[in-house]
Amino acid sequence: MRKNIVAGNWKMNMDYEQGISLFSEIVNMVKDEVVSTQEVIVCSPFIHLAAIAKLSSTVKNVSIGAQTINEHDSGAYTGEISGSQVKSTGVEYVILGHSERRAYYGETDELLAKKVDAALKHNLKPIFCIGETKDERESGSYFEVIKNQLSKALFHLDAETFKNIVLAYEPVWAIGTGLTASPEQAQEVHAFIRKTLADQFGQEIADNTSILYGGSANPGNAESLFSQPDIDGGLIGGASLKSRDFLQIINVFNA
Ligand code: PGA
Repeated sequence: MRKNIVAGNWKMNMDYEQGISLFSEIVNMVKDEVVSTQEVIVCSPFIHLAAIAKLSSTVKNVSIGAQTINEHDSGAYTGEISGSQVKSTGVEYVILGHSERRAYYGETDELLAKKVDAALKHNLKPIFCIGETKDERESGSYFEVIKNQLSKALFHLDAETFKNIVLAYEPVWAIGTGLTASPEQAQEVHAFIRKTLADQFGQEIADNTSILYGGSANPGNAESLFSQPDIDGGLIGGASLKSRDFLQIINVFNA
């Protein structure tokens, strides 16, 4: 059966020391409390990865992820970081397809398909983000948008390989805005995603894929979201920068 997962996305926040202390606080809290979230993932800026990956080895169920990788393996790509470099720091996951990268860095589904392949080649598990903009929500085209994102970036994979993918439904209008999708709105899309996966890869794969919700999730709304049948946890931005808030979200699965 699929895992419940709470992943934090620090985005471009935290200098080196701040990141190490935030991560140490998270690890200590997870150690001290009985946590029934099956996997906690922290996706930090590149500068923290190696150090926090080492710290994470002292606690079970806490893994580390990067926030993007380049699609190439190595070479003359000044400023970029490859999947093999990220993997060499000891991390297991990488966020791909985040709407901020799609919007500000022009990442298309075609490019993302290459990044997915690069991640899998280097044994990194993609946390793949999909979601509609405000206009797409209002025009009612959001199912089509999401189906397109899935098929263009992920449906070239075979079913066995797809088992390495975690999905995150992140309505763009809810990210960092304080506007959360209602549990019913989120559940509607999560169920649609699972049905789309079942059509493509079969029911068993669909049932075993963790689909996270992201977009202004916080300690106040996480429980109503995560209790929906097709929501398997969250990808948390702002609220993952405060250890106590992040822990409260992780602890939703104890409730
Ligand atoms: P938010 O970000 O929780 O701050 O809305 C979520 C995300 O972008 O992954």
